Amino acid sequence: MNTFTNAAPPRATAIGVEKVGKRFKDVVAVDGVSLQVPAGQYLGLLGPNGAGKTTLVEMIEGIQSPDTGAISVLGKNWKDHAPWLRRRIGLALQETRFVDKLTTREILDLFGSFYGQGRAATQSVLERTRLEEKQNSFVVNLSGGQRQRLALGVAIISEPEVLLLDEPTMGLDPNSRQEVWDILRDLKPKGTTLVLTTHYMEEAEALCDRIVIMDHGRFLAEGTLAELLAQHGGGEILEFHTGKRPPAGAFRLPVWRPPRRAASVPPPC
Ligand SMILES: Nc1ncnc2c1ncn2[C@@H]1O[C@H](COP(=O)(O)OP(=O)(O)OP(=O)(O)O)[C@@H](O)[C@H]1O
Ligand SMILES: [Mg+2]
Repeated sequence: MNTFTNAAPPRATAIGVEKVGKRFKDVVAVDGVSLQVPAGQYLGLLGPNGAGKTTLVEMIEGIQSPDTGAISVLGKNWKDHAPWLRRRIGLALQETRFVDKLTTREILDLFGSFYGQGRAATQSVLERTRLEEKQNSFVVNLSGGQRQRLALGVAIISEPEVLLLDEPTMGLDPNSRQEVWDILRDLKPKGTTLVLTTHYMEEAEALCDRIVIMDHGRFLAEGTLAELLAQHGGGEILEFHTGKRPPAGAFRLPVWRPPRRAASVPPPC
């Protein structure tokens, strides 16, 4: 069991994970982890395949139940407050399947209607996800990246207080990835709390206030990018020379080294 708590607590806790464990037969997917995400924080969960990221996020989403420990979202537990919580969270699963014979617009209208949203919300999401051109296309005819953006659109159509995204940019081209980042950055001033899983350190770096590195169901390291670099950067510095002597401290980037047990987490460059 390992425990990480946030050192700056004036904000309310949006997500509380307390000694949570989950096992599938002989596989310990999540091994007694604890975590608090303050309201408004963007948290990135990084780790290699099979680390336990999806299992943990799906327990926070109320899709799976923990075997041990407790989870609270916005101060409530799933057992007693599921409808209340469903109205306040947005989620995109690692793989989302929509009904093929609905159009992009119909999918957004449908999910929006669950939250009392009208056509204006659909229009806003179509624009933000750059799916306007595809609004009348059947889902079956969308590309993989367009479906990813539709899944994000469904997740944000209710203007959720807590957003949980499992690999939201998997398979996206660099431009589409940047567009997703922009959408998520735009939500931050609204006070949205975000947990996203990713294999990309640069994605966590671009978006997240705090990063947790996970493997074998446990948390190996956590902190801001600067803290992780200080703890695990190995003390090496990359210097980028422009031909002129840079001012002290400029153009210097510590080389990020993953902690030993997370060796397959990709480095940022
Ligand atoms: N329903 C299930 N039945 C059996 N084992 C499962 C189940 N779901 C997950 N596991 C196992 O639990 C472990 C954690 O899986 P999980 O999907 O949470 O990892 P992940 O970090 O999301 O990986 P990835 O990066 O590949 O998505 C893996 O060993 C996986 O095989
Ligand atoms: Mg996963």
